[in-house]
Amino acid sequence: MSLPRHLAIIMDGNGRWAQQRALPRILGHRQGVEVVRDIVEECSRLGIGWLTLYAFSHENWGRPEDEVGALMDLLATYLGKELESMLRHGIRLHVIGDIARMPSSVRAMLLETVERTRDQQGMVLTLALSYGSRDELVRAVRSLAGAIAAGELNPADIDEQALASRLDTAGLPDPDLLIRTSGEMRISNFLLWQLAYTELYFTETLWPDFKPAHLHEALQVYAQRERRFGLTGEQLREGPKERGDCH
Ligand code: IPE
Ligand code: IPE
Ligand code: MG
Repeated sequence: MSLPRHLAIIMDGNGRWAQQRALPRILGHRQGVEVVRDIVEECSRLGIGWLTLYAFSHENWGRPEDEVGALMDLLATYLGKELESMLRHGIRLHVIGDIARMPSSVRAMLLETVERTRDQQGMVLTLALSYGSRDELVRAVRSLAGAIAAGELNPADIDEQALASRLDTAGLPDPDLLIRTSGEMRISNFLLWQLAYTELYFTETLWPDFKPAHLHEALQVYAQRERRFGLTGEQLREGPKERGDCH
């Protein structure tokens, strides 16, 4: 079965999971963290090379202050508890997003975890935190403009690689599969550039209910997809020799 090299997940539905049980939303987030732990371990066990989790969006800063604070506390607890497990499983932590906005104590823990796991050889776990794709693109464009103003770059030399290398995801392959839980069929400002040819998979399952069995189901659907990258099905079956270009 062909596995995605890079799997990205929009972990959605924690609030509704709690609401259905007449619990405060934060208990949904707490249950969601338990699921993160299981899914990270399962992806690492399966041999997925890159796993990217949308954990907190640029727009999520607009949520009520107590929910944002509780999410930051949960993240700090998660990082504190998971370091040992990441080291044991060879996982490298990576972070994308506008990390400067994170509370300084959480930021320090993130940087320390990234540093302590940087030489590991297993799965790269990327957490998207304070992440918005448009924000990321704006920062990348600003960096390009800065390079031009400094005389280091000629506008004619700007190509896809020049932009991609200034995104937070520089060095990561594009996702092969995106899973979004909770039945919402939207991207919510996640990896707009990087998802250009990603296979999309939507499930009604709420994130706190998402089990390794649900992951396997998504991986099975992915394995059945024919990724054509703009070519015809016949060209794909004929093999790379007959193809004109690209992938
Ligand atoms: C996803 O669950 C977690 C974050 C966005 C931080 P939600 O909190 O969005 O849950 P719903 O969508 O309200 O159910
Ligand atoms: C997307 O979920 C962000 C995360 C999962 C972290 P949201 O719940 O914030 O997205 P919308 O508001 O439904 O689009
Ligand atoms: Mg949501």
